[in-house]
Amino acid sequence: MKKILVVDDAQLNRELLYDILKDDYIVDMAGDGEETLEKLRAYHRETAALLLDLRMPKMDGFAVIEEMKRNNWIKKIPILIISGEDAIEIENQCFELGASDFIHKPFVHSIVKNRVKNAIELFTCKNQLEQTVEKQARTLKKQYQIIQMQAEKLREAKPFNRLMMEYRSAIVEVETKLKVLNEEFSQEYNRNPFESIKSRLKSPESIYEKMERKGFPVTVESIRENLADVAGLRVICSFPDDIYRLADLFIKQDDIILIRRKDYIKNPKPNGYRSLHLILDVPIFLSEGKKYMKVEVQFRTIAMDFWASLEHKLKYKKDVGDTDEIVEQLKSCADSIERLDYQMQEIRNKIDQSRV
Ligand code: GTP
Ligand code: MG
Repeated sequence: MKKILVVDDAQLNRELLYDILKDDYIVDMAGDGEETLEKLRAYHRETAALLLDLRMPKMDGFAVIEEMKRNNWIKKIPILIISGEDAIEIENQCFELGASDFIHKPFVHSIVKNRVKNAIELFTCKNQLEQTVEKQARTLKKQYQIIQMQAEKLREAKPFNRLMMEYRSAIVEVETKLKVLNEEFSQEYNRNPFESIKSRLKSPESIYEKMERKGFPVTVESIRENLADVAGLRVICSFPDDIYRLADLFIKQDDIILIRRKDYIKNPKPNGYRSLHLILDVPIFLSEGKKYMKVEVQFRTIAMDFWASLEHKLKYKKDVGDTDEIVEQLKSCADSIERLDYQMQEIRNKIDQSRV
């Protein structure tokens, strides 16, 4: 049974409340503010609720609340004011100070029982939730520290740095191949199939975190085998059909091996994400000979890139939850962007045709 503390200077009230609550709780009692604080000092951790009278000799209920605030007990123990006061201002003042409920005298048996029960349940839930969140935060912090430490170790390891050099070389190879295609295109058709290329090498932190998450050993061989996105390129095109033309031409090159193709333009993700992803094996040429490296290339239009960057940023904002409204609005923007992309493409086709 949970312990509760009933505080009232009138013995009759204490006894009435004792009778109402004794079957469900261990009921302790105090007759004034000072005695209350003494008891709370001794066992505030075991106290599940405080029923508190306002008008008392020596120290009144308001002063008790103030002291409980100072000691931070008010966050753990619900305070239910028991009072004959009818003035709304007094009731308001109690709530503003942090009381959980206000029970008017004379007591109605069932109402007192239910209100005490509700207040305790609510606080138990709240306290458990807070504890869980605190525990999770501590675990996360520890995990983050481990990731940082392990990433530092990777940074210092020669085989890992060698692997990163190889991935960088693979990025350069892909970039060169794409730039050559761009040159040829602009000669043939007088326009560029892509606007820009961005590349990035996955950080040691991200590599370590992903390997751990997926349950792979964090070794150079295992990274090479299991991660396809250590070397990543993003090709930003003006029009959707350029994406397919460029990707097809690229895959056709006889030294490129296509491992996986994910077409999120034809099959967008439920959130509206659209891009064409290619996982490739790309040869790099080292002193020891030819070596194949995995590279992830994402193709998207300028508008799709604008959407994806923004969506990514918003997702990582700590104080913005994934509310239904935001999810819906992002999806609707992604759909508008698709319409816009194809409209622009149609306009381009018309202009091209009228030129001929
Ligand atoms: P990862 O483990 O994240 O690589 O996922 P995956 O292996 O299932 O591959 P997927 O093709 O789904 O995603 C690969 C990459 O595409 C991600 O790392 C992101 O850069 C990008 N991406 C995929 N989905 C989304 C999305 O919904 N929004 C944004 N902004 N980017 C996305
Ligand atoms: Mg990835």
